[in-house]
Amino acid sequence: MKLIYAKDYDSMSAIAATLIANEVYTNPTCVLGLATGSTPVGTYKELIRMHKNNDLDFSKVNTVNLDEYKGLTKDNDQSYAYFMYENLFKHVNIDMEKTNIPNGLNEDIEDECNRYEAVIDSLGGVDIQLLGIGQNGHIGFNEPDKVFVSKTHAIELTQNTIEANARFFNSIDEVPTVAYTMGNRQIMNAKTVVLVANGANKAQAIYDLVAGDANPMSPASILQFHQNAYIICDEAALSLVAQKAPELLK
Ligand code: GLP
Repeated sequence: MKLIYAKDYDSMSAIAATLIANEVYTNPTCVLGLATGSTPVGTYKELIRMHKNNDLDFSKVNTVNLDEYKGLTKDNDQSYAYFMYENLFKHVNIDMEKTNIPNGLNEDIEDECNRYEAVIDSLGGVDIQLLGIGQNGHIGFNEPDKVFVSKTHAIELTQNTIEANARFFNSIDEVPTVAYTMGNRQIMNAKTVVLVANGANKAQAIYDLVAGDANPMSPASILQFHQNAYIICDEAALSLVAQKAPELLK
């Protein structure tokens, strides 16, 4: 795991986009693992800029997204399918047939989880996985739990996550309470992981990730065991590490 200091949000986004772009340049048929939330938006903007200015070619790329709310249609503006289309897919030359997101409308949880796990396996797993991090340390929607859950699963969202994500909805009552998420097997199997975090509200989660004990109550801490994970943070997200474990920043 490599902890990377970025001076601000734009610099964090540029570093993450460069790592992803390098993968696409060197391996045009790669499998990109993609994330939602506000943090990766700058990374996507930078990738779009590289597509427009530097001929970054997405035409052969496959994508798999981490998660999706259960019960939202693809055209619901809060679904992650909608988010990906608006923030990346519609701006680049990606083949929509090669994009994959859990189907939030599949009521049959076992069927959907097996289907999605098989989709990722059939692509040979993820080459580079982009991640954000929840305030409670979740990655994708792998919430704090007694165990690190391995496979794609449906999860009851914690109150903390529902409250944190309510800002995107008209009211907290509209936030779905269940989501499908990729599990730790595919995330840990990704050849490269790129986690982005900015802002003081992520400082505790980042401290727990890099300096805490690996523990499923702090889901991102599993990345301590990933051989090729880049944790890219701005100064505010690194503030607790700087205070309590400054040796990790050297
Ligand atoms: C959601 C997503 C996560 C994301 C998290 C943080 O819960 N499922 O993948 O990392 O939000 O979002 P933000 O970047 O807006 O803080």
